[in-house]
Amino acid sequence: MKGIIFTEFLELVETKFGLEMVDKILSQSTLESNGAYTAIGTYNFSEMLQLLQNLNKNTGISIDQLLLVYAEHFFSVLTANYSSLISAYDDPIEMLASIEGHIHVEVRKIYPDAELPTFTVVEKTKNSLIMIYKSSRAMYYFGLGLMNKTFEHFNSEATILLEKIKDDGTEVKFIITKI
Ligand code: HEM
Repeated sequence: MKGIIFTEFLELVETKFGLEMVDKILSQSTLESNGAYTAIGTYNFSEMLQLLQNLNKNTGISIDQLLLVYAEHFFSVLTANYSSLISAYDDPIEMLASIEGHIHVEVRKIYPDAELPTFTVVEKTKNSLIMIYKSSRAMYYFGLGLMNKTFEHFNSEATILLEKIKDDGTEVKFIITKI
């Protein structure tokens, strides 16, 4: 997993819960990196999982909810750092339908070792989109948060339903309908 995911996460934890919480979750986790992350480095996903699990233990906030809030923050990191990718679009459905064929393709050029999910488009109309998320990391709530912010970015709104295809969340159907 890319370092930018860790550095931005710890920054958000510091903003929301304070530096003591950052120190606490780092010391409660067994980290090969010793918690010294750089944005361009690459680290084991198990480190992110431990940080999330320990933050969940200390705050009582579910991991799904933590990932959702984190993704909503991360979207502003994307608009700040990868604006050219996002400005290629003028519609949220078009942008989301292009994650697999364009956006994450460009991400892979920047970070060849990125661990990306797949989003397969099942059905697309002007105002709706059905996609299947697949990833061993089961970060579908991270996807949901990015989708929420994608609609907000285009001053649009949608209802987004999640249907787990696999119980462990490694395969999830997203049913997106513009309001
Ligand atoms: C992961 C970049 C848009 C869904 C990632 C990662 C990067 C990235 C760097 C981490 C890869 C790693 O740690 O190895 C970008 C950029 C985007 C973009 C630059 C737009 C400019 C989106 C959007 C979605 C999305 C709109 C909406 C669903 C995800 C998910 C992951 C991810 C769910 C977590 C990894 C997983 O589930 O396996 N993306 N992304 N991304 N991205 Fe994107």
